Amino acid sequence: MSIGIDKINFYVPKYYVDMAKLAEARQVDPNKFLIGIGQTQMAVSPVSQDIVSMGANAAKDIITDDDKKHIGMVIVATESAIDNAKAAAVQIHNLLGIQPFARCFEMKEACYAATPAIQLAKDYIEKRPEEKVLVIASDTARYGIQSGGEPTQGAGAVAMLISHNPSILVLNDDAVAYTEDVYDFWRPTGHQYPLVAGALSKDAYIKSFQESWNEYARREGKSLSDFESLCFHVPFTKMGKKALDSIINDADETTQERLTSSYEDAVYYNRYVGNIYTGSLYLSLISLLENRSLKGGQTIGLFSYGSGSVGEFFSATLVEGYDKQLDIDGHKALLNDRHEVSVEDYESFFKRFDNLEFDHDTEQSNDDTSIYYLERIQDDIRQYHRPE
Ligand code: COA
Repeated sequence: MSIGIDKINFYVPKYYVDMAKLAEARQVDPNKFLIGIGQTQMAVSPVSQDIVSMGANAAKDIITDDDKKHIGMVIVATESAIDNAKAAAVQIHNLLGIQPFARCFEMKEACYAATPAIQLAKDYIEKRPEEKVLVIASDTARYGIQSGGEPTQGAGAVAMLISHNPSILVLNDDAVAYTEDVYDFWRPTGHQYPLVAGALSKDAYIKSFQESWNEYARREGKSLSDFESLCFHVPFTKMGKKALDSIINDADETTQERLTSSYEDAVYYNRYVGNIYTGSLYLSLISLLENRSLKGGQTIGLFSYGSGSVGEFFSATLVEGYDKQLDIDGHKALLNDRHEVSVEDYESFFKRFDNLEFDHDTEQSNDDTSIYYLERIQDDIRQYHRPE
């Protein structure tokens, strides 16, 4: 019996800022952002795209009418919740028209939550072979204008349909999680932006990776040569590379070359999107699947990390014909057809994002052509545009 990712898709808003221009505006050497951090463009959210609309936009293309009848659970992983009580999964369930007898809830542990969500989904459907679970990772990464974390912002969502006999990846029974109480990144209730200890967050990430990987290798009797590629949580593309470099010398030369070159394919999309928090690992997975030539039966190792902190190393096996399930042209078009905004316009979008009232029809940039978008916030209730 195999359970795993049957379908996967991502959505990013249609605006981005050029990182070299952001560096110039901040009077920083552009190479710090382009090479030191490893980001070329950063997705910018208009006010009309929040975690609900982005999540629905990511899921809509992979959910058929038949899936809607069989989805028994919708889980949204996020660390940029728009409500402290009501789960975004409830609104997404409604927007997508999923059958009503479903469990819908939100999960949180910084950038990690989509990983326990897919593991929970796997356990849930083990005894319910007819059911499917929709897992959505959706976030708007915001540290603040001119803050230390500003170059590592972004926005976007990844949707995954977890089922029996998956068409893309089988999730293996080998996950190892590592928890350590550390204040590297956190957002106390009431704070608009996270607090972050930048240098500590990089060290905590690498330590969590090494602990998870070493324990995984010990328990499973595996070494790096067993993996065709490794995918990492990618807050910025240099971060996963640092983690990979920290263990790469344990591998033979062929494995080193393979894992290093596949890392570049795995972070290609992330380089043009930025940090999407919970979805970053899974955007990287899509990037790997769509930019590297792989074969059914090959094993991919995945490292998920959420500050605070929890890390998890697990593996998945590619299904023969997985590539037929991917929308490679659609994804390239989504990224390439975005509009560049000036640093000034990015700042203006950013400042309006937390408005408690909003009306799409009177908003300056009321040209959101996505299928789902925030139409208005009135009396603290969010209303979304949806297809007829
Ligand atoms: N050319 C090339 N590289 C340059 C450079 C230049 N002109 N100037 C600086 N760099 C390099 C630095 O050497 C450093 O590389 P290293 O980490 O390999 O040493 C890198 O660019 C970043 O420089 P740093 O001084 O560490 O930047 P910073 O103090 O502005 O902080 C972050 C960077 C990522 C810590 C900060 O943006 C942040 O806090 N982000 C949010 C938290 C986060 O994403 N944490 C990750 C774990 S979850």
